[in-house]
Amino acid sequence: MNEFENEYEERIMSREFIRDDGDIELSLRPRVFEDYIGQEKVKENLKIYIQAAISRGESLDHVLLYGPPGLGKTTLAGIIANEMNVNLRVTSGPAIEKQGDLAALLTNLNEGDVLFVDEIHRLHRSVEEVLYPAMEDNALDIIIGKGPSARSIRLDLPKFTLVGATTRAGQLSAPLRDRFGVVMRLELYTPEELSRIVIRSAGILGIEIDREGALQIASCSRGTPRIANRILKRARDFAQIVGNGVITKESASLTLNRMEIDELGLDATDRRLLTAIIKSYNGGPVGLETISAAIGEEAITIEDVYEPYLMQIGFLGRTPRGRIATPAAYEHLGIEHQIK
Ligand code: ADE
Repeated sequence: MNEFENEYEERIMSREFIRDDGDIELSLRPRVFEDYIGQEKVKENLKIYIQAAISRGESLDHVLLYGPPGLGKTTLAGIIANEMNVNLRVTSGPAIEKQGDLAALLTNLNEGDVLFVDEIHRLHRSVEEVLYPAMEDNALDIIIGKGPSARSIRLDLPKFTLVGATTRAGQLSAPLRDRFGVVMRLELYTPEELSRIVIRSAGILGIEIDREGALQIASCSRGTPRIANRILKRARDFAQIVGNGVITKESASLTLNRMEIDELGLDATDRRLLTAIIKSYNGGPVGLETISAAIGEEAITIEDVYEPYLMQIGFLGRTPRGRIATPAAYEHLGIEHQIK
């Protein structure tokens, strides 16, 4: 690899995804379906598609994974590559700035590789156009020259599987969405599933935890393994320094308290958001942009990170005229609900 390619690889994609160099975030990720807890429907179907592709000696069809952040889209891509026994290359929509970036990425793939593109909805349209023939015909169309003398040549690419991840399938252009043979939605996890994930992660981190401690963390993690694992690591700190080295219900509660996470998993921003709708806009309906300006969070973050869980627990509603806080939200925040 020459110097240019070297610099290029560092910028556009991570060289190696699955490594065991002590990076806890990575080592908590399961690498095989057997260790992956939850998302049963997605898992069962993927297993069939993978088995079928392997038995035919083909690469897996392109897969689009969508759903709120932190649910394990990257992890699933790693498992797919692992089960298909191919390499995983990881990049993201915003990292691919030019057509040439993607062309270089694609021509460096080996036969059957999985190319994971996170935040695929943020790909530039011009880059997307390079992807279409690559996904459909394993071909790269390159324009040589400019103006009237410009001509196009077609290069063959190795067969590969594109795994695209997005928090918002609706923002993907129709031509791109249509080129995925498998489209799967990841759901928020139940407290029981999160509890099993927390117990598994605690084992990897080498910290003792009891069932109540795990369930306490799980029920405050907004259905999201990334949040559960984050709280677990802080609970480990408290258990080791303040407690007796075991994560119990009490030490988990202390951790949550110190992290300003309440018994339903709402953090300070969730509460600010609901309070703004209730106190400043009389419970709504109020537009997303208005809420965004009122609490100083980007509208996209509110939509992708905060709203899915608030809607799932029935605290927030979306109406054509804007967001509303529900009576349950009033009750949780201890604010009297005036009938309008
Ligand atoms: N760690 C993060 N997500 C996980 C999952 N779905 N199963 C097991 N461990 C995980």
